[in-house]
Amino acid sequence: TYILYTCMLISHISFYFFPGSVLGQSFCSGEDPRCSGDIPVKRRIDCHPQPGASQENCEARGCTWCSTDVLNAPWCFFPEDSPYGYSLSGNVEKTAKGHAGLAPTWVPVLGLAVVFWRLCRCYFTILCPTCEGEDKDITKIIISLSICHRWDASLADLIFSNQYLQITTTVPSTSVYGFGEHEHPSFKHSMDFATYGMFSRDQSPAPFANLYGVHPFYLCVETDSNAHGVLLLNSNAQDVSLSPNPSLTFRTIGGILDFYVFLGPTPENVVQQYTEAIGRPHMPAYWSLGFQLSRWGYGSIDVLKETVDRMHYYDIPYDVQHSDIDYMERRLDFTYDKENYAGLPEYIQQLKEEGMHYVLILDPFISKDEEPGTYKPYDLGEEMGVWVNNSDGVTPAVGKAFPDGHSVFPDYTNPRTVEWWTQLCLELKDVLDYDGFWIDMNEPSNFERGQYPGCADNDINNPPYVPSISDHALAQKTLCPDSKTYLGEHYNTHSLFGWSQTAPTFHATQKATGKRAFVLSRSTFVGSGKHGGHWLGDNFSQWKDMHQSIIGILEFNLFGIPYIGADICGFNYNTTYELCLRWMQLGSFYPFSRNHNSEENSEQDPAVFGAEFAEISRETLQIRYSLLPYLYTLFFESHVHGNTVARSLMHEFTSDQQTHEIDTAFLWGPAFMIAPVLQEASTVIKKCYHTRIKEMNCA
Ligand code: GLC
Repeated sequence: TYILYTCMLISHISFYFFPGSVLGQSFCSGEDPRCSGDIPVKRRIDCHPQPGASQENCEARGCTWCSTDVLNAPWCFFPEDSPYGYSLSGNVEKTAKGHAGLAPTWVPVLGLAVVFWRLCRCYFTILCPTCEGEDKDITKIIISLSICHRWDASLADLIFSNQYLQITTTVPSTSVYGFGEHEHPSFKHSMDFATYGMFSRDQSPAPFANLYGVHPFYLCVETDSNAHGVLLLNSNAQDVSLSPNPSLTFRTIGGILDFYVFLGPTPENVVQQYTEAIGRPHMPAYWSLGFQLSRWGYGSIDVLKETVDRMHYYDIPYDVQHSDIDYMERRLDFTYDKENYAGLPEYIQQLKEEGMHYVLILDPFISKDEEPGTYKPYDLGEEMGVWVNNSDGVTPAVGKAFPDGHSVFPDYTNPRTVEWWTQLCLELKDVLDYDGFWIDMNEPSNFERGQYPGCADNDINNPPYVPSISDHALAQKTLCPDSKTYLGEHYNTHSLFGWSQTAPTFHATQKATGKRAFVLSRSTFVGSGKHGGHWLGDNFSQWKDMHQSIIGILEFNLFGIPYIGADICGFNYNTTYELCLRWMQLGSFYPFSRNHNSEENSEQDPAVFGAEFAEISRETLQIRYSLLPYLYTLFFESHVHGNTVARSLMHEFTSDQQTHEIDTAFLWGPAFMIAPVLQEASTVIKKCYHTRIKEMNCA
C-alpha cells in the first residue's frame, strides 16, 4: 500500500571474490601493525562473538587476535582486509580456502533490493536469490553500502550463510536508543561494546538479559539533531553489538537482512514513519486509562472484595480490577475456581454496575491431563488440531507449565487455532463478563529446556552460533527450535508467538464485548501495538527498577506500543511504604497504570498502608484523572498519526544535547513533564532537565 517513488532492484549481484592472498596470511602478535595500529580498538568488530575465543580459533577464521584492556572490546576482530564480505562488482574468483568459522555454509550470491517509498522512508533487503547449485566457497565483497542515506555499511564484514547473517553499519552519532526487550541501564545506550540478545524469553528483568519481546529497532539522533530510525525485520534469535566507532553489528541466525530506514527528521517523525510501516497503535478504551489494580494471589473472593472495598473506602481513583491465575480452577484457562471464588460472575457484574471494568488473565498452555470429556479447551483443540507440534509436524509438543500435569501449546499462527480460541473466549464471556484480556507467558513459556523428551541434537536446536541470550540455549524455558508451527519452524517463529496471539485475542474481545478491545500482552514483536499494550514484566520492588521502568516506557513508545506500564510498587519481593508511595506517584503517570504484585508478597495496593498513603495516592491519581482528556487525545494522535504518548525530553528538545541522556523524567506529549523522586529518603529533585528550566533555577 505504499507509494513507490523510485524502485531500484539489483538482483543476483555479481561479485566477488578477491585474490586468495589475504586469506593465506595469518597474523597477529603484539607487534603486528594490525594489532596495534591499523584498527583502533574502538573500530574493532568482534569476529568471535560466541564464548571461547582463543588466538588459535580466531586466526583459524582469518581474523586478528590482539588483547586490550578496554573493557568488553573484542580481542578477536575482523582485519582491515577481511576474508569475509561481498562486493557489488568485480570478477568472480574462487578462493582456495574453505572456512570453518562462523559461517559453515556460505551463500555466495546475494540479491540486493532497494525500494524508496514515500519521501523519507526506504527499505532494502539483502537476500539469497538461489542457493541451488551455487558455489559454496567463501566470497567477498568490498563496498560501502551507502544507501538509504545515513546507513553506511561496509560490506567487508557482511556474512550471509544459512544460520549466520551479520552486517555492520556505522552510525553518525552515539545518541542511539531502542532495541528490545531488555532492562537497559540508560535510555541513551552505552556504545562501549555492549551486546544485547533478542529472543523472546520468560525471564525477570536482569542486566543484558533477553526478555519477553523482540524489537530490533533503533533511533539515532545525529550531531545536526536530525533523527533517523532503522528496523531489521527479522524474527530469528539475534543480537546487536554497539561499538564506540560508533557502529552497530547485527547478527541473526536465520531469515534475511531486511532493513527499513526512517529518515525523520525529528524523533517524532521517525516513530510516525515507523508505525506507518508496522501498524499504528490501537486506540485504547477511555476506561483503560484509569488506575488498575491486580495481584497474583488474592487467593479468594473475600480477600479480593476486602481490597476493592478499602480502595473505595479511601476514595482512590480506580477503574479496573484484574484477576490473575488464582481465579482459575487449578490454573486451567477458561475455568474459574468455584470454591475460593464462588460468586465471581455475580461479583464482576456488581463491579461493572458500579462503573468498574474487569480484566482476566489467560495463559497460552492448555492442560492435556484432565479426564477426557471434562475439559473442553483441550478436547476441542485436540479435535481441531490446534497445537504446536514436535519436529515430526504431527504429534503435539508436550511441556510443563502452570497447570498440574502436562500442557500443550496453541499455535496461533494456525487459522484453526484462531477459530478455537475465539470460540472459547466468546463462551467465557457468558460466564465471566470480562472487558479485556491479559495474555501472559506467551514467549511461549515452558518450564523445562524444550518439550518432552528433550530436544534432538541437530543444527536447528543447536545452531553453530547462539546469539547472546541467557543460558546460550534457544530451548531454555521454551519449546525445541525444531518444533513445527503452521507458519514454519519454531526456530523462525518463536519470537512471534505472543504477537500471533495478540491480534486474535483483540478480535475475539471486540466480538465478545462489542466495544474497543483491551489486550495486554507480555510477549510482543514489531507491530504488536496495533492490537495490544504491554507491561514490563516481573520487575522487583527495588528503587533501581522504578527508575528503569521509565526507560522501558520510553522505549516501548519508540516501538509503537505506547500503552505501556510497569508493575507499580514492584512485582517480586516485598515492597516498602516509601518505595511504594514514590512508585504510586510515578506510576500514576504511566500510560498504562497498574499496581500488581506477586504471590506470597505482602499486600501493596494503595489502600493497604493507611490513611496518609491513601491520601497521597488519591491526590496524585487525581492529577492523572484531571489530565485524562489530554492523555486520551495523545492516544488518539498516536492511533491516527503514530505519535509517541510518553516521550523523552530528547524528543522535544532534540537540539539541546543535555536532554539526550535524560531518563529520570519524561513527558506526556509535548506539554507535560513528570519528574519523579527516584531515590530513597529524598524529597527534592536536584536535576535540571532542560536549559530553559535551568534558567528558572530549578536546582
Ligand atoms: C507471570 C506474569 C505475572 C503473573 C504471574 C502469574 O509471572 O508475568 O504478572 O502475576 O505470571 O500469572
